Amino acid sequence: MTDVSQLTEAQALEELTKLADELAAHDIRYHQQDAPSISDGDYDELKRRNAALEAAFPHLVRENSPSTRVGAARAEQFSPVEHGVPMLSLDNAFSNDDALEFDAKIRRFLRLSGAEEVAYTAEPKIDGLSASLRYEKGVLVQGATRGDGKTGEDVTENLRTLAEIPKRLSGQGWPDVIEIRGEVYLGHEEFASLNAANEAAGQKTYANPRNAAAGSLRQIDPKITATRPLRFFAYAWGLFSQPFAQTQWEALALLKSWGFQTTPESQRVISGQGLLDAYAAMEAVRPKLGYDIDGVVYKVDRLDWQQRLGFITRTPRWAVARKFPAQQARTILEAIDVQVGRTGAVTPVARLRPVTVGGVVVENATLHNADEIARKDVRIGDTVILQRAGDVIPQIVGPVLDERPADSVPFEFPTHCPCPLKTPLAKETTAAGVETVVRRCTGEFACPFQRIEHLRHFVSRRAYDIEGLGEKQLTAFYERGWVKEPADIFRLARDEEKLAELRTTDGYGETSVRNLIAGIEAKRAIPLDRFIFGLGIRHIGETTSTALARHFETVEHFIATAIAAAAQRPGAGAQALSELDGVGPTAVEAILAYARHPQALLIPAGASLEEHLRLAIPRLNTRARQSLAERFGDWPTFQAAAKAALSEMPGEEFREISSVDAVGPVAARMVAEFFGEDHNRAKVDALLAELSVIPAERPKTDTAVAGKTIVFTGSLEKMTRDEAKAQAEALGAKVAGSVSKKTDLVVAGPGAGSKLKTATDLGIQVMTEDEWLAMVGG
Ligand code: IVH
Repeated sequence: MTDVSQLTEAQALEELTKLADELAAHDIRYHQQDAPSISDGDYDELKRRNAALEAAFPHLVRENSPSTRVGAARAEQFSPVEHGVPMLSLDNAFSNDDALEFDAKIRRFLRLSGAEEVAYTAEPKIDGLSASLRYEKGVLVQGATRGDGKTGEDVTENLRTLAEIPKRLSGQGWPDVIEIRGEVYLGHEEFASLNAANEAAGQKTYANPRNAAAGSLRQIDPKITATRPLRFFAYAWGLFSQPFAQTQWEALALLKSWGFQTTPESQRVISGQGLLDAYAAMEAVRPKLGYDIDGVVYKVDRLDWQQRLGFITRTPRWAVARKFPAQQARTILEAIDVQVGRTGAVTPVARLRPVTVGGVVVENATLHNADEIARKDVRIGDTVILQRAGDVIPQIVGPVLDERPADSVPFEFPTHCPCPLKTPLAKETTAAGVETVVRRCTGEFACPFQRIEHLRHFVSRRAYDIEGLGEKQLTAFYERGWVKEPADIFRLARDEEKLAELRTTDGYGETSVRNLIAGIEAKRAIPLDRFIFGLGIRHIGETTSTALARHFETVEHFIATAIAAAAQRPGAGAQALSELDGVGPTAVEAILAYARHPQALLIPAGASLEEHLRLAIPRLNTRARQSLAERFGDWPTFQAAAKAALSEMPGEEFREISSVDAVGPVAARMVAEFFGEDHNRAKVDALLAELSVIPAERPKTDTAVAGKTIVFTGSLEKMTRDEAKAQAEALGAKVAGSVSKKTDLVVAGPGAGSKLKTATDLGIQVMTEDEWLAMVGG
């Protein structure tokens, strides 16, 4: 890039114009679409270039310069909220020198004498999206996003669904009116499970926790936001009716006493050296936090000094963001392969020239789906930017277009499975009739890729957990044709010929062979929930498997019901109706009752389908009406669908499966479809000939914890997490992964962190592992 001092005025003007357009486009992608197309580092780079040009050519500064703009205008679907005090941005510092210069500038500005020390807070810079919460007389009355800094989006109802946002302030000393500012964010674990669930459902996956948090908050339907485990840290305020603190440090303590979470890693430090030490400390804790931070925010502690220091257009003089260097690297995208998962979902995977990002060597990265590749416009042969944030799997940010070779090849998504069957890939549509991005091989067990994935799933830790049969051995046995289906694993353990071959040809030692046999034999008796989970049926995860096992108790009962259900699956119309989001069993019931006995009604001419539904079937709630209106469009179409559904409703056994807690119509259909296939039934029979299934116990209802929701956190010393979970479930309790208002009890071991804190804050009963064991008599 040409040094700014070498540019002519015309060149500078041209570059500034280009940068303004580019930055505006990036702002919209980042703030409104939650889908940035460049890395934060590259964005900062553009901003820095813009600032350098503006400094060298001050008379060319545009009126709406990117340097004076914060964020991007709000999106149309939310009402505008004028912030009482603008939500500003922070200037960036990138090095120790920048940090020391920040301290020096403050001292110069305040004309401090050499002896006078400046105290700062050093707070983690949470990588989420900022929000402003307006409290009047201690009651939350409005919540907004940042928007363009002056006007944000009204997301009050969405913010209300966050457990960590108090609806009413506790403690005392809060001003009558105050805007509390902080960051909405999502933890790494929660991000990973959200993406996994979305992927399984064929829905949009998010590039990183920040986008996921933004996407989750900015949902039109707050009920969806409520299902996302969003969290909130408070760290600042806007408008306030009375002063309430003298320092930032004191204010943080007050925010905490009013019921907010504040960042536990914040420190109060003295002078330049304190700033540098705090940065080093934050870099060290960063990997252990469980959520993304992208730097440290330094703030002058004394609020009267903050006042004196004031603002420069869009950033305070009294604070600066010291950014971590992005964990990014460039490498060559050598190929794009497609991978076939256990359920046949075909996903593109980038094969990269190995490169180190954030201390880890990366060779592969998922590209998720065809849309993602098209959106990012990555081509084979491109130099790409790889990014690794925290514990999150590496992502391809995008190509470096300047370095695109002339012979780079755009990727064409295959139309057929790469397996020897070459089945045409099927597209999927949701119940609402929308085509998803998932492409699936329909070969199932006949597709060798799916078969090996099935086998891997079968022996995995949460299914049969067969010791001595790891990924490597399994793949080897599979490739040799020894293990083609789960039953073969058990046959192998008593196949003297093959075992002898392992000893002679493969050089297995006697101990290894013995361990392998013992590992397999140990699983010839398997609990029903693991048996069901091991089948690897789509949508039947651990929780659903446990629920099914508890309900059916014996394998015979489960299989007989599943086979009967296979013959009574709902017809397409009934399926479309009962699998719609927001249309539960009660709504379906109401629609069918109407279809059985339609009544002549006076419907105003020109009524929308939603309105028509409201008058004709009053038992439907708003959510159900909206969903139906979206799916069917007009009354005649809806009426025809409802009539058709009448004769196509699933039979009793299907409904029994679907009504099991945590199952529902989609998972029930998956079970029915699985048992509807002869080849699946044959595999199950072969497996049952090899092993016995231990019946599940019905959850107890007469124990101290029956029906309660329990969270285990911290390290347990007398039992593993899995054991603790099994024990609690056997006593009729539900075990959850995160603490919310619904939690009844938290069992906390040493090292318990945020979950314990949330529990204490919410006033939930907490006990130690020993107390738990004493209570349950373990
Ligand atoms: S203070 C006047 N403190 O960083 C500025 N901001 O680039 C008040 N952020 O918009 C902001 N952690 O979204 C502040 N501990 C923290 C922060 C923080 C994250 C975000 C916030 C802000 C952006 C500035």
